[in-house]
Amino acid sequence: TGKVTLDTGFVNTASCTSAITYIDGDAGILRYRGYPIEQLAEKSSFLEVSHLLIHGELPTEAELSRFTEDVKEHTLIREEMRRFFDGFPRDAHPMAVLSSGVSALSTFYQDSLDPFDKDQVEISTVRLLAKLPTIAAHSYKNSIGHPTLYPDNSLSYVENFQRMTFGLPTTPYEVNPLHSRVLDMLLVLHADHEQNCSTSTVRLVGSSQANMFASVSAGVNALFGPLHGGANEAVLSMLSKIDAEGGDVGSFVSAVKDKSAGTRLMGFGHRVYRNYDPRATIVKKAAREVIDAMPNPDPMLDIALQLEEIALSDDYFVERKLYPNVDFYTGLIYRAMGFPPRMFTVLFALGRLPGWIAQWREMINDPATKIGRPRQVYTGATERDYVALSDR
Ligand code: CMC
Repeated sequence: TGKVTLDTGFVNTASCTSAITYIDGDAGILRYRGYPIEQLAEKSSFLEVSHLLIHGELPTEAELSRFTEDVKEHTLIREEMRRFFDGFPRDAHPMAVLSSGVSALSTFYQDSLDPFDKDQVEISTVRLLAKLPTIAAHSYKNSIGHPTLYPDNSLSYVENFQRMTFGLPTTPYEVNPLHSRVLDMLLVLHADHEQNCSTSTVRLVGSSQANMFASVSAGVNALFGPLHGGANEAVLSMLSKIDAEGGDVGSFVSAVKDKSAGTRLMGFGHRVYRNYDPRATIVKKAAREVIDAMPNPDPMLDIALQLEEIALSDDYFVERKLYPNVDFYTGLIYRAMGFPPRMFTVLFALGRLPGWIAQWREMINDPATKIGRPRQVYTGATERDYVALSDR
């Protein structure tokens, strides 16, 4: 109570304290638990970073191998759950299937729903990390009408996901080492980003003491939107549209500046970064590497490079401090790897998962946590008397 301040979109309101991720948006700095994103992207791996985010420290060799084994042990989903995928329409968006799948985990693991039972929180953490790639790959197989593949635990986390997505039951799967390395690195880059829309959603749902599966499935739904995770898919539609209309990047940028059209330059701008997104610098380099290795390099990369160059020298974007964000070049990489646009946001979700889990755990263990309950500024009718139906 007391004076209520209106802060639409929570531009200036901190909802929690956190020791997980540090961002300095003006300087373009991002660190997980103090480690610069550039070092983690180059030297670390996704499971190592997951351990870092969730448990607070980089694992020792023994801890990493135990963590990896634990995750591998839980990659299967229950047969009843596999049958869910037959029930969804073939053209369902994989993000909708993914969030339903995560939500359904609450129905299978009813003994692990107490957010204050530490052992159960550990097992739910491992189950989520292990099963999300399986659910994601199944959602893809469902969309193309192919049979699903069981996980292969002789492969790494990322290779297993690639095989479940692109492999066929009858043919041995050949891993592309460049793609596996870059995909693992992209998951690292997406692993946490402090109080973004989906993470705040996970915390808000969790603040009612809802279980981790319920909270994370809400996070997946928040990520679905085009202003958040859905942007990577939207960037590719934008580039394809420019290409289909003759590749005139200049007039596309002019149209974006005319706000009456309601279009935005997808993959540009960020609430926190008012400088180049440090993740975008790394992704841009990786896009070059992956696309240059293709037999027929993707012309869409040139359109993206031109678009960036034109926007960065245009007053509209300069004045508003709009730079490419992490999503600007990721879609091009995913496409080069063979993922259809509808899977792009699913890949973001796989990456963001350890961040959601780490933030949920930090929230549940923080004695200062209260149920999230923002105030409002009421603008509706003042008191009026009820009018009988016959008199309206
Ligand atoms: N294209 C054109 N104009 C833009 C863009 C854009 N991408 N982004 C912001 N603006 C303009 C906006 O119209 C406004 O202009 P004015 O001051 O004249 O009214 C000004 O810049 C400030 O924009 P805002 O909407 O107040 O900024 P925000 O912090 O609320 O929004 C954002 C941040 C990321 C939602 C927004 O920049 C955007 O819509 N970008 C495109 C979608 C996108 O790429 N999202 C991915 C974000 S990064 C990964 C993730 O978090 O998922």
